Amino acid sequence: MGRIVHKSEKNTIGPADFCRMFACEMQDLPEQVISGSKHVNTTYHDADWPEMEKYILSVLQQISVPYIVRSRDENLEAFEKGWRENLEALFCDGISMESLKPKYFRTSKFLRYNKKLIVTENLNLEFDLFTLARYLIFTKYLSSYEDIYELGCGSCQNLLLLTELFPAKRLYGLDWTKASAEIAKVLADKLGRHIEGAVFDMMNPDSDFTIKHGSAIITIHALEQIGVAHDKLLSFLMRAKPGIVVHYEPIVEFYDENNLLDQLALVYSQKRNYLSGFYTELCRLQEMNKVEIIAAFRPCLGGIVHEASLMVWRPKGQ
Ligand SMILES: C[S@@+](CC[C@H](N)C(=O)[O-])C[C@H]1O[C@@H](n2cnc3c(N)ncnc32)[C@H](O)[C@@H]1O
Repeated sequence: MGRIVHKSEKNTIGPADFCRMFACEMQDLPEQVISGSKHVNTTYHDADWPEMEKYILSVLQQISVPYIVRSRDENLEAFEKGWRENLEALFCDGISMESLKPKYFRTSKFLRYNKKLIVTENLNLEFDLFTLARYLIFTKYLSSYEDIYELGCGSCQNLLLLTELFPAKRLYGLDWTKASAEIAKVLADKLGRHIEGAVFDMMNPDSDFTIKHGSAIITIHALEQIGVAHDKLLSFLMRAKPGIVVHYEPIVEFYDENNLLDQLALVYSQKRNYLSGFYTELCRLQEMNKVEIIAAFRPCLGGIVHEASLMVWRPKGQ
């Protein structure tokens, strides 16, 4: 019989948990993760059944709204509008993580963690942990690359974090919205850093767009948007000959369909036509000795309805 969990049993998520989740040693953790986990309120308890019921109902309600399915044009319009709001915030409130925080990060007391549902009083815990995870991922995988391209850079919040970590690196933000390129330009002008923006469609990559050989390419919650239409992008990435490609994206192959929370995330991903088959294709390319997969795992950290996994790889034979 399972142990009875009392709500009063408070847990926290600290540096040791980040090491476990992202397979790294304590000495490899960046200072931002160590100090960040002290300052962020990460206190939580495991959901009890009434809380679980409430959560399941809210996810099912979210899945059943008709506008969960968007056409390509509706999707582009929604992102263009959203990033333009961030652009305006940049002018009104100045350059900050808060100005560039995407509005789709909603407050919630629920979060997925360690394949369980947890309940927290920090309603911004998803975003707070996402920020710490990005410090860790960027430091671990991108430190040695001078040119970093982000595909689907959105509000450029990741570029802002990258330029804070690595002021001397050259950063490139690509997205299909014009607003994203405009934000990149404002960041470059105001911060005096090498940050370039360009309009770029991941589903139909412009073969004339050149990426410097040996650079780093990242995607964060962006590849998820292209569903099953990843073949052209993968060919583009192979031809670009990057030194490393880092994805922090929901990977459906990593969910367990016999687990209630995972099954909910799977249904949500299917309804939204989110990324599917990309990891399977990378594995096939690895078997053919065309790519090397450096890391591919699910940290089991956040978000509210689904979760990002880490995939790091490079094309072979450069
Ligand atoms: C959920 S947002 C993530 C933004 C950013 N990576 C972040 O972490 O804040 C998804 C991004 O993918 C972009 N996107 C969606 N479909 C795209 C496509 N076909 N080509 C390029 N960008 C696309 C959207 O405009 C949006 O900026």
